[in-house]
Amino acid sequence: MAQIEGKVAIITGAASGIGRACAIVLAREGACVVATDVDSEGLRDTEKLVSDAGGKILTLTQDVTDEAVWEDVFTEATEKFGTPSVLVNNAGIAIAGGITDFTLDDWRRQMAVNVDSVFLGTRAAMNAMSSGGSIINISSVAGLRGAAGASAYCTSKGAVRLFTKAAAVECAQMGTGIRVNSVHPGIIDTPIWQKSITRMTEVMDEERISALTAHSGANQMDVEAIASQSSPMGRAGRPEEVAELILFLASDASSYISGQEHVVDGAMTAR
Ligand SMILES: NC(=O)c1ccc[n+]([C@@H]2O[C@H](COP(=O)([O-])OP(=O)(O)OC[C@H]3O[C@@H](n4cnc5c(N)ncnc54)[C@H](O)[C@@H]3O)[C@@H](O)[C@H]2O)c1
Repeated sequence: MAQIEGKVAIITGAASGIGRACAIVLAREGACVVATDVDSEGLRDTEKLVSDAGGKILTLTQDVTDEAVWEDVFTEATEKFGTPSVLVNNAGIAIAGGITDFTLDDWRRQMAVNVDSVFLGTRAAMNAMSSGGSIINISSVAGLRGAAGASAYCTSKGAVRLFTKAAAVECAQMGTGIRVNSVHPGIIDTPIWQKSITRMTEVMDEERISALTAHSGANQMDVEAIASQSSPMGRAGRPEEVAELILFLASDASSYISGQEHVVDGAMTAR
């Protein structure tokens, strides 16, 4: 049993993909999970999956860009299960497109969902985690290196990477007992790819998409086809494979690890 039994863990973006897998894995190991998302229907499915397996879960509808709601999430989590000591800032979107295809509104939306949310969540957690804890921010391999057609996404995930380090140093120096780490998944088989590709086909013609994604294969509808081109392991990762790393970072087994970037990418960035 991982050292997480009884901990209260808030997970954003938990209606789908990595967030849902994280809810299932943390609950399996005895955490009380507070799963939030804008997608209430998806949250109901996550709730059923966790409760059917005997886990403890509270679901809350939350738009992570809404500053006012963050305090309520921590209050409701505390009323239901006790003071949270784990926050997984996972909710995210990937708005694909070349720099000249982007409007300022697209850019700001990308930053609001992927970056503002991480600041708001971390601030709320630092105010609420009176006995220390673990904050895990989901970045990406796109936060470590550039990719054509992904400038805004790369910028947002790079910001998450360095915000995490600054927050980790601040939390340590202030004696909060809070650790802060970033997780950098490679190509993971979740609905984010389909959403991103669908949008790309709405704003760009085929020729332009091909030119932008020639080296990554990221225009293909099948995530496995993208992974076979980009990942040395030749396959996409599963959301559970990311969740197991998050479990380690959430647990006391990682008590001396903070401010670090943890890559889970089937060796994609190793070459
Ligand atoms: N799948 C990958 O290949 C991959 C790779 C690297 C990083 N990531 C990151 O992992 C995280 C999870 O992505 P995923 O792949 O599971 O995608 P996903 O689309 O399956 O899940 C993302 C979830 O975030 C929610 N969300 C979006 N905007 C929100 C908002 N404003 N407020 C609250 N919830 C919101 C969505 O409703 C969805 O349930 C994201 O931060 C993503 O950038 C994914």
